[in-house]
Amino acid sequence: MVRKVASLVVLGVLASVLTASQIAARAGDASPATGSAPPLREVVGGDLAPEGRFPWMVRLSMGCGGALTAPRVVLTAGHCVSGSGEDDSIGVVAGVTNLKSTEAIEARSVSVIRADGFRGETYGDDWALIRLDRDIDLPLLELSHGGSDEKGPMTVLGWGQTSENALRQEKRLRYASVPVVADGDCAKAYDKVGVELVKEESICAGKRGVDTCQGDSGGPMVRKAGGRWVQVGIVSWGLGCARKGYPGVYTQVSTFRADIRAATRRLS
Ligand code: ARG
Repeated sequence: MVRKVASLVVLGVLASVLTASQIAARAGDASPATGSAPPLREVVGGDLAPEGRFPWMVRLSMGCGGALTAPRVVLTAGHCVSGSGEDDSIGVVAGVTNLKSTEAIEARSVSVIRADGFRGETYGDDWALIRLDRDIDLPLLELSHGGSDEKGPMTVLGWGQTSENALRQEKRLRYASVPVVADGDCAKAYDKVGVELVKEESICAGKRGVDTCQGDSGGPMVRKAGGRWVQVGIVSWGLGCARKGYPGVYTQVSTFRADIRAATRRLS
């Protein structure tokens, strides 16, 4: 009981850390598509993405990333949207690494399907699909089947913060390579701060100094398999960013592959 209360307190603190920084990240770049000079932030420990290397990557106006899974459908995190149903509030920028580029392709949301079981980013089911108001003619990102796709270094990318406390005015996409961390090790780390990892629905990756961060949520974690990119994860949560012993936690795409595909068909 005492232990339970203690872990609830820690969880409360952690939840507020996550939310406070998240809100800061969201508030800071609420409208990248409207040209109002918002502060935009990026992956920790990464490099600038070359134009054209990640053509399916998109930026969402609430301050999240996403990936094109169909010409009219973007896959993102459940915690990036407010629920399922009609929703024309989300602006989408695609086809560029620099959000200010005149080449940017812009679209708007029409409706959203959020995973039925979603309760909060640390509880699993952290995925959602957004239907757009137009087709975007760019390469699509395939969903991983799991297995060997989930081994080896992963590529993560986004326009999120470059460090836990950074408030940098940046607008260019960054990417980094991160090692996968075994579920058991990841669960042990987060258990110390009172958060129970939902192992079957999560895949952890990252190391000290290299991680995703606030503002990267919803973006894909990918791996190149047989010359094609496949999406293995969706940026979900972490304790701070790039801290030693606390990897980033990603929604495990293979677990939800069938559900995501069925929902994509409904939106296409
Ligand atoms: N929840 C954050 C967001 O909304 C993403 C956090 C990822 N954190 C990490 N350490 N990998 O942007």
